[in-house]
Amino acid sequence: MKRLTVPAIRERKGGEPIVMLTAYTMRMAQLLDPHCDVLLVGDSLAQVIYGLPSTLPVTLDMMIAHGAAVVRGSHHALVVIDMPFGCYEESPEAAFRAAARVLAETGAAAVKLEGGAAMAPTVRFLVERGIPVFGHVGLTPQAVNMLGGYGARGRSEAEAEKILADSNAIADAGAFALVVEGVVEPLALAITESVSCPVIGIGASAGCDGQVLVVDDMLGMFERTPRFVKKFDDLAGRISAAVETYARDVRAREFPGEGQIYAPKN
Ligand code: KIV
Ligand code: NA
Repeated sequence: MKRLTVPAIRERKGGEPIVMLTAYTMRMAQLLDPHCDVLLVGDSLAQVIYGLPSTLPVTLDMMIAHGAAVVRGSHHALVVIDMPFGCYEESPEAAFRAAARVLAETGAAAVKLEGGAAMAPTVRFLVERGIPVFGHVGLTPQAVNMLGGYGARGRSEAEAEKILADSNAIADAGAFALVVEGVVEPLALAITESVSCPVIGIGASAGCDGQVLVVDDMLGMFERTPRFVKKFDDLAGRISAAVETYARDVRAREFPGEGQIYAPKN
């Protein structure tokens, strides 16, 4: 099966909803790949994989290592890699150098970066030089120190208007798709209707052009689940039960059993 391309995803605007999940490792990518249109190597790996308090300490090298693993574990979904905090905001040139490393060293086809109108010139700079860009507006976790937390955005009319303008600025600059995170539903719908590219919601609306979730959240792996996450399984509970059984079997000398030991040759 041929891997989905950036134009193929862009053409899905207003069509069949785009299915997107985060992935950080090879094996998880293999499991998600047949069902997903887009795999996002999110900088949420900060909390999910590394136990960091925010996404701010994530480095380009971390994103490249995990991005390469996800590319190796997939052959169908489009792989998009988050640009980490500090490697793209300073200038379009700095962003290009970092994004070129990401594509060259992982084999992924696109990068994602956070921000609105202020980042539009950077989006245009990358797109005009061959680097497809996925935008991310609304609740932008790298701006947590400006936002003061991870609460939903767009509750006031002024804030909603700014986020709508930011969305259009990023789409008009050439982004092929846009994550809209943690906004009140009417704003998510207004953005979806207003911008020319597919809008992927997280904590947004079923009316968006697609959905994304952090895979560990939807599998019930992470201890804290935000309101917008639906748990499609309870992997944490199932892993705990499996490990409890293993510990009991080891302590009772019931593992390894007949089927797991090597007999001597005779
Ligand atoms: O890092 C991430 O997981 C993300 C998604 C939540 C959109 O940016
Ligand atoms: Na992210």
